[in-house]
Amino acid sequence: MPKLLRKAVLPVAGLGTRFLPATKATAKEMLPVVDKPLIQYAVEEARAAGIEQFCLVTGRGKTALVEHFDIAFELEATLRERHKTRELQLLHDAASEPGSIVTVRQQVPLGLGHAIWCARAFIGDDPFAILLPDDLVLADTPCLKQLADAYAETGGNVVAVTEVPREHTNRYGILEIGRDDGRLVEVTGLVEKPDPAVAPSNLSIIGRYVLLPEVITHLARMERGAGNEVQLTDGMAQMIGRTPFHGLRYEGRRFDCGDKVGFLEAQIAFALARPDLAPAIRKFLREYAEVPA
Ligand code: G1P
Repeated sequence: MPKLLRKAVLPVAGLGTRFLPATKATAKEMLPVVDKPLIQYAVEEARAAGIEQFCLVTGRGKTALVEHFDIAFELEATLRERHKTRELQLLHDAASEPGSIVTVRQQVPLGLGHAIWCARAFIGDDPFAILLPDDLVLADTPCLKQLADAYAETGGNVVAVTEVPREHTNRYGILEIGRDDGRLVEVTGLVEKPDPAVAPSNLSIIGRYVLLPEVITHLARMERGAGNEVQLTDGMAQMIGRTPFHGLRYEGRRFDCGDKVGFLEAQIAFALARPDLAPAIRKFLREYAEVPA
């Protein structure tokens, strides 16, 4: 029986420069898709996969993220006075269980691998999930739940993967693949952001992982990889052959909310998935589509 998966690490120290000026004074993970900040989507997805303990790897200027999961005492009192029960429920949904969220600081931006290594005391000897809140997945079964099930099945590392156009391999961690049953793919190698000409496949990692704690030992060597950063992908690559390692072709659609077009697409897709908003948005899209380019 593999050890139970109860922990998640959320790296949120990035500066969000691609979204300036919106991110000048606020964290990019606080940007809303429809009416909910990206960070809350990630936490809710993790909870739906059985995660109970969270570690936010933050940086300077990111306190709003911690505030978001706290109890907003004054706001609650006012809403209660005004009998705003629906709004009160929304506040409660956003608050976390006492003691379930801890934060550590990534003091210098040395890469995703370094951010995960900063959470080593939280991880300890347990398997853990990683969610990159920039990646939003619209799915019937939450993406991390799909990964958690695959972890329970294989007992090893599992990363969410999807096919990307070959010219985009230099944006992602890319798999070298062994056995492939169409859903689970055996990982025989991993390369961070390879040039399309040398990429071992076009199967890319998206921001959802379930990893064994051994990865910390490899990250601790602080070897620099692509972009002169400590890459999570390189740390993971060193576990191949020692522990089971699979890619999971998840069911669902991924939106890269770190990119303006992806972020806007997510707004539309998530609004269309909401019964209270879908009719108005659909009407608008129909009208708008008639406008010549
Ligand atoms: C990170 C990882 C990369 C992964 C991607 C998914 O890259 O390093 O392997 O494919 O997230 O979104 P970043 O987007 O931080 O450049």
